[in-house]
Amino acid sequence: MEQTRAWLKQARSVAVLTGAGISAESGVPTFRGKQGLWKQYRPEELANADAFHRDPRLVWEWYNWRRSLIAKAHPNPGHYALADLASRIPNFTLISQNVDDLHEQAGSRDVLKVHGDIWQLRCLNCGRQHIDPRPALPEIPPHCHCGGLLRPGVVWFGEELPRHIWCKALQAARTAELFLVIGTSAVVYPAASLVHIAKRAGAHIVELNITETVITNDIDDFLAGPCGEILPKLIA
Ligand code: OAD
Repeated sequence: MEQTRAWLKQARSVAVLTGAGISAESGVPTFRGKQGLWKQYRPEELANADAFHRDPRLVWEWYNWRRSLIAKAHPNPGHYALADLASRIPNFTLISQNVDDLHEQAGSRDVLKVHGDIWQLRCLNCGRQHIDPRPALPEIPPHCHCGGLLRPGVVWFGEELPRHIWCKALQAARTAELFLVIGTSAVVYPAASLVHIAKRAGAHIVELNITETVITNDIDDFLAGPCGEILPKLIA
């Protein structure tokens, strides 16, 4: 941790990529591994447009399950530590693959949510978007005033990331002196490509995870342990 702390002290530009692992200690299940299974389905089987068109009710049941878990969750010390860090670094960018709002609840501003927002709904017919903060929607699949089917405002497999958010994330990866990869299996692209882009651009890459991942061999420092314990220690 000393090496990473030294880089953190010197860095004027830091970018962070978080994944489901940072919300795990808040009670939001991660996607991969046994914990991520819902009724035996893997996330890839449900989080895609084909699955939604085939069986919107099933996909919405999964999102209702995740919405109700997220609604009960509170930020943990890892989320708070990152909000604190932002106030100490001149150029700080927080990029999250998470669709929950726990970073924002902890006080982080301008989070680049590359995979969208679970509280947002979008009409497949008229395109209208709105926020619905109810933990679970009473009628599924939900419908818009125009009669169209509403889908979750998240990015599914095979879909493009929101362009303006992705451009900012790319820019942050290209200019960071230090890039922290926190609580992600780093297997979902293009989000995971940010790690390689930052590395090629000369950033020190530090990974924080409870287990090694596909990127662990290519990084500069590995901090083993849960985010809620390691991040407050690092920032202290
Ligand atoms: P994953 O479920 O693939 O990975 C979670 C990672 O967090 C794993 O590497 C765990 O070892 C690690 N982890 C678990 N608990 C932790 C803790 N307390 N502290 C530190 N690390 C911990 O989740 P993501 O990498 O976020 O996409 O998955 C990426 C994308 O795949 C998600 O954004 C979602 C999913 O399908 C979409 O919904 C489009």
